[in-house]
Amino acid sequence: MDSLNDLIAYLEIEQDDKVLDLGCGAGGIAEYISDETGAHVTGLDNAASAIDVAMDRSGNKRDRLTFVQGDMNALEFPEHSFDQVISLDTIYWVADIDEALASIVRLIKPGGRLGIFIANTPQMDDSPSACEPRGTWVAKSLTKMGLDFDAHDYTESFLLFWPKMKEVVMDLYDDFVAEGNEVIFDSFMLDADEDYLPAAEAGKLRRYLYIVNAPDDLE
Ligand SMILES: C[S@@+](CC[C@H](N)C(=O)[O-])C[C@H]1O[C@@H](n2cnc3c(N)ncnc32)[C@H](O)[C@@H]1O
Repeated sequence: MDSLNDLIAYLEIEQDDKVLDLGCGAGGIAEYISDETGAHVTGLDNAASAIDVAMDRSGNKRDRLTFVQGDMNALEFPEHSFDQVISLDTIYWVADIDEALASIVRLIKPGGRLGIFIANTPQMDDSPSACEPRGTWVAKSLTKMGLDFDAHDYTESFLLFWPKMKEVVMDLYDDFVAEGNEVIFDSFMLDADEDYLPAAEAGKLRRYLYIVNAPDDLE
């Protein structure tokens, strides 16, 4: 929650701002941001079931919350339609990071901002500089595009998160099975055991929030 509140502050999200949440899942974060700020948040996700859940849950807030099924790789919103765009642990799924960032930035009004949370592991980027805030694959692409951005380091809290996550998921094993969701249990365990925990142990796990200032002029 601290990192979400930081995100709201860094992006300066205010009442009646228009925010796009790329890869919103079931929309809990979009709803939180809208509840906290009064902003109009559009959540986009390619999972129809997630969009259905988000729509059902937020029906009484339709004046400031909407959810659409769509692909981050084929964004169809008009240029300059949002004050802020957020991508929270979703940028991993773009087909081409340079192209994706260019099309995302086009959606933002001049003076608006983009917030990107990523966890960087050797699996994602094994280059020696990838541990540095300005050395990750996302930072390199932002730099290449000449975009002005700040990087905020959330590694310390993230290192505490994954062992705790694994413990909680294991405690809930029977519930996952009872719900027929063992596949989700397996996916959490795989992430923990094969990705995040070994990367943390090797001192290579990083978590960054990039705050990007949309340019005044787009080429
Ligand atoms: C790790 S979850 C993050 C969800 C949410 N942003 C959060 O922080 O809790 C990744 C989300 O991205 C969505 N996603 C993956 N590829 C996508 C794509 N090409 N277009 C839109 N959404 C996508 C998934 O369906 C999933 O809901």
